[in-house]
Amino acid sequence: MKILVTGGLGFIGSHTTVELLQLGYDVVVVDNLSNSRISVLDAIEDICGKRPVFYELDLRDQSAIENLFENEKDIQGVIHFAAFKAVGESVEMPLAYYENNISALISLLQCMMAADIQNFIFSSSCTVYGEPSSLPISEDAPVQKAESPYGNTKKVGEEIVRDSAAVHELKAISLRYFNPVGAHQSSKIGELPSGIPQNLVPFVTQTAAGIRSELKVFGNDYPTPDGTAIRDYIHVVDLAKAHIKALERLIEMQADGGVFETFNIGTGAGNSVLEVINAFEKTTGVKVPYSFAPRRKGDIIQIFAHTNKATDILGWKAECSLDDMMRDAWNFQQALADPEHILNV
Ligand code: NAD
Ligand code: WQD
Repeated sequence: MKILVTGGLGFIGSHTTVELLQLGYDVVVVDNLSNSRISVLDAIEDICGKRPVFYELDLRDQSAIENLFENEKDIQGVIHFAAFKAVGESVEMPLAYYENNISALISLLQCMMAADIQNFIFSSSCTVYGEPSSLPISEDAPVQKAESPYGNTKKVGEEIVRDSAAVHELKAISLRYFNPVGAHQSSKIGELPSGIPQNLVPFVTQTAAGIRSELKVFGNDYPTPDGTAIRDYIHVVDLAKAHIKALERLIEMQADGGVFETFNIGTGAGNSVLEVINAFEKTTGVKVPYSFAPRRKGDIIQIFAHTNKATDILGWKAECSLDDMMRDAWNFQQALADPEHILNV
């Protein structure tokens, strides 16, 4: 069975491509390399012993997608990761974010409809919930006004997919990821932030590696047990596996379109920033110098997922612990320091 993975050389897309190839799917990857390296293809092949078919193209180029669907006739489903994802940058460059994330989505859906491809998985985010009024947060909690243009592309993206499913022969699942971290156990693929990391775990690993002098913990006056903010961190390999379960559900579903479902993909456990640092230090034996700094604008206090829907309907549950996430993130950080690492050559 042939699956198209957009953004398949990125952080989550590369891990999902590995899981698909290892299960025997044929994978076609599209990426414009705006936030990834071409060497990720070699790394994927190194892990799986198989190389996905690769198209370097921009999804905003509708004729390029049409050509792809002409060449790759029997695609059964599309997993759509390709998007810009930096929250702060989106505030500075809202039009670039709307243009990339929304135009690419619309072009892709139009080409899918023309090519009669029904099964679609959309990368959404827990950011659509804003600050939750009750925890753990379940899928039927209201979606709130987005805090950033990036967050809005996820909110509007879900609406575009839902409205399209209502009138076209589309079966779609939107996966709302909580905080994806960690790396593949092989240390051959992982997160490759460009410039100064904005997210916690890459900043932790770069600080431990001495690339950054100190981690700033944004806020220690939150109404949480240790005063720091709480998130639901999920191992990227667990997250990748959730996509396989969602894909299997869509493929097996006896419906001619009109399906739009949302699932939370998290562990169900909340951990504070200090708990993450402690888990990292305990697991790796490496100290992370840090100091407290003011709260970061736009940050929520706490969120973690209600995961029963994913467990009951998709048959999926996160398996990796916070320690596993820290170990794999650190192993990848260390492996990358080797100039001979497959992603560096
Ligand atoms: P990433 O930046 O590592 O991967 C995205 C990939 O898409 C990159 O390889 C990039 O080059 C490619 N891309 C971007 N725009 C493109 C375009 N117009 N045409 C073709 N390729 C394009 O990001 P990621 O962390 O793997 O995230 C994947 C998806 O999951 C994104 O939609 C993101 O918004 C969503 N998401 C990520 C997180 C997170 O914390 N990483 C959380 C929730 C949701
Ligand atoms: C986690 C916690 C920070 C960096 C973002 C997006 C969200 C989703 C996932 C895509 C927070 C604190 C961080 C640092 C810190 N992405 N922190 N020092 O903000 O929960 O979510 O990524 O959809 O949309 O908003 O993740 O990793 O940035 O922060 O103290 O140097 O770590 O304040 O409490 P966040 P994060």
